[in-house]
Amino acid sequence: MKKRKTLRQLQKMKGEEKIVMITAYDALFAALLEPYADVILVGDSLNMSFAGKEDTLSATMDQMIYHTQAVCNGAKESYVLIDMPFGTYPDRQTALSNAIRAYRESGADAVKLEGGKEKADIVRYLSENAIAVFGHIGLKPQSVRSEGGYSVKGKSEEEKAEIVGSAIALEEAGAVALIIEGVKPDVAAAVTQSVKIPVIGIGAGSGCDGQVLVWSDAFGFFDTFVPKFVKTYLNGGDLVRGAMAQYAQEVKAGEFPDENYTY
Ligand code: KIV
Repeated sequence: MKKRKTLRQLQKMKGEEKIVMITAYDALFAALLEPYADVILVGDSLNMSFAGKEDTLSATMDQMIYHTQAVCNGAKESYVLIDMPFGTYPDRQTALSNAIRAYRESGADAVKLEGGKEKADIVRYLSENAIAVFGHIGLKPQSVRSEGGYSVKGKSEEEKAEIVGSAIALEEAGAVALIIEGVKPDVAAAVTQSVKIPVIGIGAGSGCDGQVLVWSDAFGFFDTFVPKFVKTYLNGGDLVRGAMAQYAQEVKAGEFPDENYTY
């Protein structure tokens, strides 16, 4: 029986060993990635990467649960984190009933929600009710419509202080870890040093306790737009297009299947 990485193990990694986090949305990829991933995030980025939508905002709780179940079926050892999608945590009670659904129905170890000190009250309520919560600060993709686009955060001293203050407020409220996205590296480093919980960065420089990437970005499957912070570890798109072209050509030519692939 394989055992999942525990929250205690993750938290002990702060300052000792970098935490590796990557997204996955299905069992197949979860199984491929988990030998190397401390945490698998079922992010609401699946609404873009998997479902082809413009942003993350239309992802639903049902969809997140479905994909998280699949990830938990494929990955038995990584810690699994589920995103609370847009509109599922506007107040304490709604947040708690959705987080309870996530725990009961998906098999996730923790939930993640976007927001700074304004969400501390909700984080506290979930924590008091035995839910492990990851905060998500800095650039918050669920705010893209209200903010009119994506932009790097923490460019001014005022913004930096605001982000560090949010990290501290979330830790005090009981958050077990933080994701920090799209900020200047000095901001992420300051946050990492200001709290005792692990801080995992994306587009936030190297001064965090770990890193997270969206799998389809990291492996070159989503190649229409590659943000500056994404390192592409595989030309997945080219490989799949090449393989598909060869398969199609062999079928058209009557070359596949030959006797090697026939009963
Ligand atoms: O939804 C997601 O994949 C995320 C990452 C970008 C951290 O929240």
